Amino acid sequence: MEQKTRVLFVCLGNICRSPLARALFEQQVNALGLDHKFHIDSAGTSSNHVGEDADARTKSNAKQNGLTFSHRARQFNKADFDRFDRIIVMDQSNRRDVVALAADKAHEDKVYLMRDWDRNQPGENVPDPWYGGSEGFEAVYQLLKHCTGNLLADLQ
Ligand code: 4NP
Repeated sequence: MEQKTRVLFVCLGNICRSPLARALFEQQVNALGLDHKFHIDSAGTSSNHVGEDADARTKSNAKQNGLTFSHRARQFNKADFDRFDRIIVMDQSNRRDVVALAADKAHEDKVYLMRDWDRNQPGENVPDPWYGGSEGFEAVYQLLKHCTGNLLADLQ
């Protein structure tokens, strides 16, 4: 049987950026009938919101864009390095926190920045919308839609 590509999206709280990246990537995978080829999840580097649904502002913005999803926040842990092929972090702070848990270079090499797939500003951080207004949530939605689409094209 063909092996699934296992993709984990990671942010700080696992209630705004990474659950949305997971939902957008899943939507794009499903639209192409490729769900049998991927295992997709998300996690946060902090434990602050474990067990919570995604942020209400993230869900409301996604709904305005026609995307609904359910979610339960969980914390990233060392075992995720073996459970996933690609660990895609939203910013450099997430990268530091994830890499700090890596056992070896093989683990570190699984860590990618989401905006490595941004054709306009590769290598930048996905901004944290938590402290800002609704325009920040829309900007993150459009940015993540762009990046996850390019990621899927890359992985196909
Ligand atoms: P996320 O956003 O990392 O995209 O889920 C945040 C969520 C919560 C907090 C910070 C960022 N917080 O400080 O509680």
